[in-house]
Amino acid sequence: MEYSRTAMSLTPSATLQLSAKAKELQSAGRDIISLSAGQPDFPTPIPIAEAGIDAIREGKTVYTASTGIPELKEAVAAQYSIRRNMHWLPSNVLVGCGAKHNLASLIRVAIDPGDKVLLPRPFWVSYPEMVKASGGIPIFPEECINGSEIRKAAGKGAVGVLLNYPSNPTGFVPTVSFMSEIADAIAETDMWVISDDIYEDLAYLDSGVPHILDFHPELKERTAVVSGVSKTYAMTGWRIGYSLACSEWTRLAGILQAHSTSNPCSISQWAALAAVEGKASREREEMHRSFHMRRDLICELLDRVDGMEFKKPDGAFYVFPRLLTDPQKLDTNRFCSDLLEEEGVAVIPGSAFGAEGYIRISFAASEDDIRRGIHRLKEFLHRRLNT
Ligand SMILES: Cc1ncc(COP(=O)(O)O)c(C=O)c1O
Repeated sequence: MEYSRTAMSLTPSATLQLSAKAKELQSAGRDIISLSAGQPDFPTPIPIAEAGIDAIREGKTVYTASTGIPELKEAVAAQYSIRRNMHWLPSNVLVGCGAKHNLASLIRVAIDPGDKVLLPRPFWVSYPEMVKASGGIPIFPEECINGSEIRKAAGKGAVGVLLNYPSNPTGFVPTVSFMSEIADAIAETDMWVISDDIYEDLAYLDSGVPHILDFHPELKERTAVVSGVSKTYAMTGWRIGYSLACSEWTRLAGILQAHSTSNPCSISQWAALAAVEGKASREREEMHRSFHMRRDLICELLDRVDGMEFKKPDGAFYVFPRLLTDPQKLDTNRFCSDLLEEEGVAVIPGSAFGAEGYIRISFAASEDDIRRGIHRLKEFLHRRLNT
């Protein structure tokens, strides 16, 4: 059988592949320290889990409206209307099977084959593949994303742009001047925007995370805000994400969803409602505090590692150091697989995020694993630098 050219052009997710390899070695009895995870290492808070159990007991186990239960759409619309200081209705909300699903559906209905979409580098692994899967062409800025790169992309015919702050993989949180420059440039173009805000609640600055809609609220008509409960509430396996966009974009993505997955899991939606309604705010704050402490710890440990440089992340749970070993010899895929084989430490190669020469280290791990993992990385790098 011949498979479609589109399918054949897709690359498997490097993050999922590496995590799978680490698990395989672990099952074979190796002492593996995983600093590769893209998910909180906490259990889902009990009040949320109980809402899911109640949903099962109450028989809320049948198909729901394909775009999500009205209660959850209302709660999301109300919460984000306050959060972004603008008005959204339930008809602007689509509940999907994880933020990833919302992203894929919104991209799918926004582009036609051959359309170009600007993806700031380093990008989250799935963006280019989602664009390609929809027949689009990902384009990347020549330099760091800024106003002139956006104007340049618009000049080359880009129809849309994906923003992700706090960023996976860098943990970067934009400053007010950075975000206002980006927002000004986008406002001058006709590009649509998808703002992937999945890490919005995991930021470590008191000043919060500047958002494109703070600067140009009129962009609401062509901006989709995507978030969900996965990272904030340790609910990655429940698979609930949501988006807020103009009603037509939401309607079209909802039709696509209805024909592909019907609705997101009914039980998970009731559990997500408990999360959005604030039933686990205390647990959420505790997890946030832990991530903040671990961020400080990992940065302190990495400061003492030779052979790399990094910027302290202000959000998410990743550090993205640049390796300073001989660039001629540097292939980060190889580096990461050697690190896993030799030292039993799993991290993700920067090439997966369009940034060769970097590695992504996750601090969604216990303090002990962070300490032992960075110690082993230090030894490994020491050997590399001296051979
Ligand atoms: C930047 C980014 N967006 C979206 C997602 C997907 O989130 P979800 O698990 O809700 O699909 C992830 C998960 O790793 C992510 O890192």
